Amino acid sequence: MHEPVILGIETSCDETAAALFRGHELLHHITATQLVHTAYGGVVPEYASREHNKLLGPVIKGVLEQAEFNLQDIDSIAVTQGPGLAGALLVGLSYAKGLALGLDIPLYGINHIEGHIFANFIGQSELPTPFLCLLVSGGHTQLIHVESIHTYKLIGQTRDDAAGEAFDKVARLLGIGYPGGPLIDRISRDGSRNFHHFPRSSFPESYDFSFSGLKTNVLQYIRKQNAGFIHSHLPDIAASFQEAVVDVLSKQTMQAARDLGLDRIVLAGGVAANSRLRERMSELTQDESIELFQPDLRYCTDNAAMIAFMGYWRALVDEPDQLNIAAFPNLKLSFGV
Ligand code: KG4
Ligand code: ZN
Repeated sequence: MHEPVILGIETSCDETAAALFRGHELLHHITATQLVHTAYGGVVPEYASREHNKLLGPVIKGVLEQAEFNLQDIDSIAVTQGPGLAGALLVGLSYAKGLALGLDIPLYGINHIEGHIFANFIGQSELPTPFLCLLVSGGHTQLIHVESIHTYKLIGQTRDDAAGEAFDKVARLLGIGYPGGPLIDRISRDGSRNFHHFPRSSFPESYDFSFSGLKTNVLQYIRKQNAGFIHSHLPDIAASFQEAVVDVLSKQTMQAARDLGLDRIVLAGGVAANSRLRERMSELTQDESIELFQPDLRYCTDNAAMIAFMGYWRALVDEPDQLNIAAFPNLKLSFGV
């Protein structure tokens, strides 16, 4: 049987990415991280769109060249439809539509969140559902009961900031820079996570999260100290903050898995790259004989391999999308009751 060749395109935020799959097998992928935002301490939406415009053509060309394929070899296109920055999504979606029209091949609009969840299984021909997914990114902190592909139940979510957002905001407070998550992770390795006990929020009889109080607490703590103290204890403060986030995420996830009787846990999204979260979840799941899936580091943050991989699964069961599909900046997973 001829396995379809699928081109994946991802432009939802500040990574311009393309990937080529044959069936469920990854042939090649490239993720170009836009550096222009570093000077501004955060993603500037207008610059993100401009950079996608500049980078997407060369990134797709690079993937095809590395895999030794031509444009004409592509059988279908999978592109991120949302959620994300409106202008950034439009660049990828318009490019994908143009290619689909020019090559007369089907187009699939992919939900970026589903991409993150199933990034754990890139290259595999089976998906080990059901499982509990902890989705932790810059925009999301959710516990999702994944019954099967496309069938989800929301178990809990943040009531304010997402976990990644908390990392980014606290990094800014500490003057560490951008992107905050990876930098806090890195400097925490030289610090003591027991240096200061920051508060952990929880809600009785709910699996919800809250991180804005923690962020305020870090701010108040910094204000009370002098600059020299902060400077010399930066790794300790970062590690103590990180421990508070990881503590809440890991305990809540384990409790939900226990209560739902699920013996598989999947980490997904940018914060799933956090070394302490990975370490803690490994320890806790081993203690309780729960199988833990953590995405390969290159598939934690935004990439097109997860989008092309979802395209493969969509094409098995769904009709292609129309070429007039819109970008959905606030696209959600659809949760059953
Ligand atoms: O999934 P992602 O690439 O983009 C969204 O869809 O949001 O996640 C980006 C988020 C950022 O907030 C970033 O700071 C965080 O993931 N992040 C991390 C780490 N690597 C990325 N947070 C903590 N530790 C990390 N190692
Ligand atoms: Zn993402």
